[in-house]
Amino acid sequence: MRILFVCLGNICRSPTAEAVLRHKLRELGLEGVEVDSAGTGDWHVGKPPDSRTRQAAQLRGYDLSALRGRQVCVSDFRRFDLILAMDNSNLEQLRRMRPGDAMAELDLFLRRYDLAPVEVPDPYYGGEEGFQQVLDLLEQACDGLLRELRGRL
Ligand code: 4NP
Repeated sequence: MRILFVCLGNICRSPTAEAVLRHKLRELGLEGVEVDSAGTGDWHVGKPPDSRTRQAAQLRGYDLSALRGRQVCVSDFRRFDLILAMDNSNLEQLRRMRPGDAMAELDLFLRRYDLAPVEVPDPYYGGEEGFQQVLDLLEQACDGLLRELRGRL
């Protein structure tokens, strides 16, 4: 099972989702799940996650230090089973890129697990509370994803 999280810059929301899911998988001893993240934009390719994102995540025990930004590419649609977008704009962009022979299922991460709001708000231009909200939402959504994975693995 291969899961890709996608946001705009790949320095705030999707790397956080990647780190949270990895952490929870390890805690549960669930193996056989590959997790990655990418951005629809290319501004932060090769860069570490945003320092505010890293700090907020670290305070909850998630380590993002090894992650580096990358841009989503057409081969991702063949490599991953499930591609989960953080907001509707990311999802729309992914739908436009999707090749005819795509294997991956595409979905909006929070909506898939019946959470509200259905989008993870972009915290980049906001204050500290935005980074906390991202973590709160992604922790809940990862719990939903883990329930699904337990059923599928
Ligand atoms: P992300 O946040 O999509 O959650 O990584 C953003 C990061 C950077 C920018 C926008 C959103 N930016 O405009 O550079």
